[in-house]
Amino acid sequence: MSLTKIQVVGQPLPRVSARNHRMRNSVVCGVSIKRHHSGPSLGSVTKGSDESPFLHNGTFGRFGGKFVPETLISHLGDLEDEFNFVLNDHEFQVGRKPKGSSARFVHLSIKLILTLIKLIDRHSPAKYEELTTALKDYVGRETPLYFAGLLTEHYKNLARTTEGGGGRNGGPEIFLKREDLSHCGSHKINNALAQAMIARRLGCSHVVAATGAGQHGVATAAACAKLSLQCIVFMGTTDMKKQCSNVHSMKLLGVQVKSVEGTFKDASSEAIRNWVENIDVAYYLSGTVVGPHPCPVMVCEFQSVIGKETRRQAKQLWGGKPDVLVACVGSGSNALGLFHEFVGDEDVRLVGVEGSGLGLDSGKHSATLAVGDIGVYHGTMSYLLQDDQGQILRPHSIGVGLEYPGVGPEISFLKETGRAEFYTATDQEAIQACMLLSRLEGIIPALEASHAFAFLDKLVPTLADGAKVVVNCSGRGDKDLDTLIQRGMVSSLC
Ligand SMILES: Cc1ncc(COP(=O)(O)O)c(C=O)c1O
Repeated sequence: MSLTKIQVVGQPLPRVSARNHRMRNSVVCGVSIKRHHSGPSLGSVTKGSDESPFLHNGTFGRFGGKFVPETLISHLGDLEDEFNFVLNDHEFQVGRKPKGSSARFVHLSIKLILTLIKLIDRHSPAKYEELTTALKDYVGRETPLYFAGLLTEHYKNLARTTEGGGGRNGGPEIFLKREDLSHCGSHKINNALAQAMIARRLGCSHVVAATGAGQHGVATAAACAKLSLQCIVFMGTTDMKKQCSNVHSMKLLGVQVKSVEGTFKDASSEAIRNWVENIDVAYYLSGTVVGPHPCPVMVCEFQSVIGKETRRQAKQLWGGKPDVLVACVGSGSNALGLFHEFVGDEDVRLVGVEGSGLGLDSGKHSATLAVGDIGVYHGTMSYLLQDDQGQILRPHSIGVGLEYPGVGPEISFLKETGRAEFYTATDQEAIQACMLLSRLEGIIPALEASHAFAFLDKLVPTLADGAKVVVNCSGRGDKDLDTLIQRGMVSSLC
């Protein structure tokens, strides 16, 4: 059965019956924002709690679910069980041997029991792995919340000198969440590392992934090297040309890079096919908040460290919360990573910026939330770029990582409920923003992140003096130098 495109039909498949005690308290239908966003997280779980808010069937209002062939349901169930387990697993999170987890052994499948044998083997210090330590020592967390003084001053000067600015002296203060400083150069490593650990716990021998900009591919490659897992990364031929340096990095890290005619959406379809064919030994490591449940919830959880750190850092820096959070939206993982922590804080504005490419009327854009319709793709229901027949349209953006024809179900829900606002920035605006930040602050942002910075031109004049704006600098732009050179942007500076 092809997984590439399924028309919207009926309701998501029901979840298979609970396979361990933790499942009994599952929330079976849609979750309200408040309930979903106010519970424990990887940073502060209540050990042994059966009340995890993440135990639901993966629907956000009418979005999400599991639109997959029946043969995949039990594998997704295993994954969900393991994910729910690590949410409360002290060993996974703070590096201690788990206590009182006997209930874990009751209903585990043979596959998981075999995995346990490996876990016991892992008690030797040399093999010992856990997430919190790895995020600190390997990824380099926490990433700074950096006050962009010169960018702030730039907008203040604009306000003083332009007519629209009304000669005002104030303006907001702009801070950057420096995910570009993470190991491998983007936020993608937060999720790749955590999921690679889950893959190993599940006893999978190899990992399958798809990448667009190559950032998720490099992050997955690094995580797999560190955890001694084999890895295959699928990548579109057009993306391989544009993000050549990341292809080289992946190969250096020991990954088999498989080219697929087309772009990220084609690579994703091929990776899912490969996973289905090797389902007993392979782990599909999703790089963003799309796909069937539990993939979106899991990726969001592993990226939510971004928002948690931001809250803590804001408190330290100015004793309050940010007023506005801004992030680019490809499929939504860096945006949700920043927003998720603040969804319940209604005084914090959440602003997502999609790529409008050559313009919304050109048909060459990635602005799914701006002009998309609801449908099912890659196993989940969300907003999609599709034609009248429900055929998926090819997205375009200068930020290759934004070129996906859908967004995650939770992002779709945030749009539909009006909790988050979504806008667009064109290729050209993103390039200008990339150049501005490079020259003012000495930070070259990824072209994906540059879309978030581009929106500041429109956002800043509308904000009160002293408002605190946090922009997620989701990745660094070294990978985009060729694109900028081809556009004549670099030589024009020489
Ligand atoms: C640096 C960077 N930012 C943003 C994105 C967009 O993805 P997402 O919307 O999942 O954060 C990508 C995707 O590759 C990326 O590499």
